[in-house]
This record gives sequence, C-alpha cells and structure tokens, in this order.
Amino acid sequence: MKNSLKNETTEKLLEAAKEAAYEAGEIQLSYMGKNKEISSKSYANDLVTIADKQSEEKIISIISTYFPDHDILGEETGCHRENNSEYLWIIDPLDGTTNFAHNFPHFAVSIGLVKNGKIILGVVLDPFKNELFWAAEGSGAFLNSDEIKVSKIEKLEDSLLATGFAPMEEEVLGENIEYFKQFMFKAQAIRRPGSAALDICYVACGRLDGFWEMKLQPWDITAGVCIAREAGGNVTNFYSDEFDIYKKSIIVSNGVLHKPMKEIIAHGPQKSC
Ligand code: IPD
Ligand code: CA
Ligand code: CA
Repeated sequence: MKNSLKNETTEKLLEAAKEAAYEAGEIQLSYMGKNKEISSKSYANDLVTIADKQSEEKIISIISTYFPDHDILGEETGCHRENNSEYLWIIDPLDGTTNFAHNFPHFAVSIGLVKNGKIILGVVLDPFKNELFWAAEGSGAFLNSDEIKVSKIEKLEDSLLATGFAPMEEEVLGENIEYFKQFMFKAQAIRRPGSAALDICYVACGRLDGFWEMKLQPWDITAGVCIAREAGGNVTNFYSDEFDIYKKSIIVSNGVLHKPMKEIIAHGPQKSC
C-alpha cells in the first residue's frame, strides 16, 4: 500500500502537522462572520488578523511540544532557529487572509517541513471545506484519505490555470498582469482564487492543470510543493529546471503543461524574477 509510510518518524511528523493544522483551522472557523481585528503589514493590502496570529501561536506550540529541538519559520513571528536543527518547519498559519477577512470561504493552513534543505512533508488544510491535503516524500499525496494525482490535460488550450498577485509594488503587479494576458489567450480559462497553498494543491488533485505566481514566500508554497510533487506534478522557478523555495517565482503543472507554461513565461516581461 502506497500510503504505508516509510517509517515511524515520518508518521509522527505527519501526525503533529495534521493536529496543528486542524487546531488552527478551528480557530479560523470560530472567527467567521465575527470581528477579526484586521490590520495591514508592509503594504495596505497585506492583511493580518487576530486569527492569523492565534493560529500561528497554536501551530508553533503543538510542533514545539512534539519536537522541541526543531527549528521553525512562521510568517507572522519569523525565525525560531535557535536549535540549528536539520529540521525546519515552514508555516503559513492562514493562507488567503484577504479572503478570510471578507468571509470568502477559501483559505488554508499550510505547514511544510524541510530536512537538510529538502522538502519532505506538507499538510494544507482548507478548514471551511474540511479538505486536508497531505504528503510525505516518497509516500504519495492525499486529499483526506484518498490518493490524488495531477490531471492528464495535454494542451494549454484545454487547461484551467490559476495565479495570484502578491501585495506588491505596481510594477511587479503589472508584470504578472502581462503574464495573465498571455495565458488568457492560450488557456481555456484562468482563475485567481486567493490562496497560493490551495492553488498548488488544486494542481495536485487535478482541479487545476497549472499555477504560476511571482514574489511568493517559502511559507506560501513549501507544503504545497511536497503535495504537488507526490501527486506527479512538476515544480520549478520561472527560469530554471530546479526549484528553490527562496527564489519566489513558481510554476506548478501536471508535468505535460510545464514546457508550454515556461515558454509563455520566457516570452514575458522578465524583470523581477
Ligand atoms: C497570499 C495568498 C495569495 C497570493 C499572495 C499571498 P496570505 O498569502 O497566498 O493567494 O496571491 O501572494 O501573499 O498573505 O494570504 O498568507
Ligand atoms: Ca500566504
Ligand atoms: Ca498568511
């Protein structure tokens, strides 16, 4: 059985990540339709709410109870790297905060794990839909208890793609609007759902055929990348065949569409990535 996990350690890591994701998801659901104490971070449209902060606190407390020696990088509280551990948890406590702030029910908890620089595990929970995407390196990818695979769409003209726009300077937004236009002419349709973590998981389970975005942070993508790879997808940065979580640009595809997607990116504005 593919999901008989490689070893006990992986199983414990996954259990902790899932528990933390479900606990954070409960916090987020408890604020739906209520006052979320919304404020801005570096840009006026870069939002944070009380639920982002409480979720991160809860996740860190659970992870560090199980694994006190591990390092943690959280979007809201930064680096907790005092252990110099080979393990680094990378946490986006609430991906899709703008959706959440508007009670638009599409957001997620994203918890990824890197060991010696290699992504080994990812858990992404959509608490509103009760959909848990998860994977561990070499063990396949799952949506709740069902194994998931990327789509088999072979042509861009038959594809449903997604992207996102990070809170950023106008120039960078303009660049992605250029890519958006190019893909619009080639794909069947484009979506901008508002949670990069879920966008990547949707490629993993075949609801989308590809996703691209610029200026993402490691916490937006680490967990999703593990899940997409384990589901048979391909993940690279814009101008390389490799993937580095710190390089900010990303293309995720079902594999077949990677080349045509990269070609469109290669003919785009190419300024910021
Ligand atoms: C954002 C979401 C959005 C993406 C932005 C991210 P946040 O994360 O993933 O879909 O387009 O680039 O910053 O701020 O909601 O955690
Ligand atoms: Ca995010
Ligand atoms: Ca976030």
